Amino acid sequence: MPIQAAVLAGLGAWLPPRVVDNEELTRRLDTSDEWIRTRTGIHERRVVDPGVSTVDMAIAAGRKALRSAGSERADALVLATATPDHPCPASAPQVASGLGLSGIAAFDVNAVCSGFVYALATAAGLIAGGVAERVLVVGSDAFTTLLDPADRTTVPIFGDGAGAVVLRAGSPDERGALGPFDLHSEGELAELLVVPAGGAKQRVSDEPRDHFLVMRGTAVFRQANARMAESSLAVLDRAGMKVDEIDRFVGHQANIRILKAVARQLGLPEDRLVVNIERVGNTSAASIPLALADAAGDGSLRAGHRVLLSAFGAGLTWGSTLLTWPDVTVEP
Ligand code: ACO
Repeated sequence: MPIQAAVLAGLGAWLPPRVVDNEELTRRLDTSDEWIRTRTGIHERRVVDPGVSTVDMAIAAGRKALRSAGSERADALVLATATPDHPCPASAPQVASGLGLSGIAAFDVNAVCSGFVYALATAAGLIAGGVAERVLVVGSDAFTTLLDPADRTTVPIFGDGAGAVVLRAGSPDERGALGPFDLHSEGELAELLVVPAGGAKQRVSDEPRDHFLVMRGTAVFRQANARMAESSLAVLDRAGMKVDEIDRFVGHQANIRILKAVARQLGLPEDRLVVNIERVGNTSAASIPLALADAAGDGSLRAGHRVLLSAFGAGLTWGSTLLTWPDVTVEP
């Protein structure tokens, strides 16, 4: 039997209703709307209400993706998240049960902001290996729960949300077929973005700030610029494609300046960038599926477009993949 490709068959997204705009942040942090807009491109972000978790958001997005795919069935669920509801166990089984899919294979993938691309590759492997025929891939992060509310270097940047796709077994020549993939990591730079405590190395710290994200923004910025461009070129090379064949570049929404710098390095016109960072901020593993859902919903991403997905995140991790956009409907 020929190796089965993973074909995108459904897409859904969910955002918490609470909008926090830059103006609101200036009332509690030493920052300004102008600084946040010009340095990051972010105008507002969504933030979960207390009690709303990564699992809740993942279920809401997953339900929409299953409806978009026209079938409630999935044989496996891969949840990309760096903010599971508990350090143990993984959150994916609860997402599966919440969707009426108890019993299926379900596990988390943690590659932080690259998590969705890593989860797509994992799901594509399950399909190629004959382990599953339909896989629900969800990116869900309540990243604001990792932030020190007094830290002006992280609070303006991150938001919460979830996005999901259904992948089904199909032919590599079909619209929606994913691949090839390009994935990388560099653990020696883990300290650039880290939550020092709360894990096996230091379960509890007397210093409360150790339980929040510490980010060396400028170093991360430089790495993201270089790695997303490198990986985009690598995946294009593997596919035998040129940059000018790409209709839409859907990059991890970390900073508008990073997206534009990557476009410049690739020689890609800026009007091919999919950008929704101004309304959602950096939503970590949810970033790419949220951007896809927005662009498919407003018609800027259309069936037949050749799409490059590229992400970069803590770890460090980064990666890219390609697909031709299929005919999928997305609920608002
Ligand atoms: N408001 C006002 N001033 C600020 C703020 C703020 N919110 N934050 C920092 N500043 C100040 C700094 O203190 C600094 O002041 P100084 O010059 O007097 O020292 C000045 O602004 C410039 O700060 P930099 O950090 O050098 O600014 P930079 O241009 O690098 O932008 C930013 C900072 C937006 C964080 C940028 O570095 C960035 O986007 N980095 C990438 C972040 C990222 O992508 N993180 C997520 C990766 S994905 C993941 O896996 C989680």
